[in-house]
Amino acid sequence: MIHDRAGHTFDGEPALTDSQVLEFCREGHLLLRGVVPDEINRRTCDYLEGKIPANPSYIPHGLTEADLERMRFSIAPSSIFLEDWFMEHVLLNPQVVGIMRSLLGRNVGLPVLASLHRVECPMPAQHWHNDADHVFGPELNFVEVFYFPQDTPVELGPTELVPGSHIMPTKRPDDEGGVFTDGPAGTIGIHHHSILHRRGVSTAKGTRHMLKYNYWRTTPPQRDWITEPDFDFQRAYYGGHNQARYVAHMFYWLCGKGGEYRIIGGQAWPWSHPNQIGPSYGFASERGYRPDWRKQNQDGYAS
Ligand SMILES: [Fe+2]
Repeated sequence: MIHDRAGHTFDGEPALTDSQVLEFCREGHLLLRGVVPDEINRRTCDYLEGKIPANPSYIPHGLTEADLERMRFSIAPSSIFLEDWFMEHVLLNPQVVGIMRSLLGRNVGLPVLASLHRVECPMPAQHWHNDADHVFGPELNFVEVFYFPQDTPVELGPTELVPGSHIMPTKRPDDEGGVFTDGPAGTIGIHHHSILHRRGVSTAKGTRHMLKYNYWRTTPPQRDWITEPDFDFQRAYYGGHNQARYVAHMFYWLCGKGGEYRIIGGQAWPWSHPNQIGPSYGFASERGYRPDWRKQNQDGYAS
């Protein structure tokens, strides 16, 4: 792994295969349970609670030490990114690095803004929502991360999300549940920024910290993760009706082929059914439609 401090980027070996990248396109999330060492989790809580002195590795241009101190005790404590131990063990966590390198290409841009979601539990659940400024589209230019520095079982209200909901607006009643990103201290949730989510209801007593930040693409997409020699673009599973067309578009965009992507609709590729006696028609069509991400057309296709 190469950390370019001046450029605020890193490069490394990709960790995901074709199938895993496609799975991320389909599900919109990944969960790494307990991947940050306990000592770092404790230090993160102590830093956020003001129990240890700050020790920034540098003062960013245009900021002062006083700015960083103010930042540290705000809801956006991005100054924690300047702590060497946080950079090394959280932002540059080996598993996170391998995944971000797979999804975002070479020279991944490191986070510049942290949001702290601190809750004194117990608390009711939030309403289901998409975060501000979310965008539905085939592009994956940034990926969001939630880091839980303390044990966060379901009782402490970890983030709850709806797999596959990152491709279009979804209405969901608040009494309907989702998938919890619960885990021991040091759990990191990785997801598409547009995924429908909420802070789950908490029933236990205690403080729940959660730090949220984004990694950024700096290079055009190409299929430079771990390729599988037998990966079959025609027969791969892209999801069901009203889903497969968007998921496949995102996967093709990540392969650097988003501009060529065309579909002919109906039961044609990228849709498929396990009981087919042959592959779906319409694969590699040069003519056809693109998915209508903006939802301006009744049938969901754009010319
Ligand atoms: Fe949110």
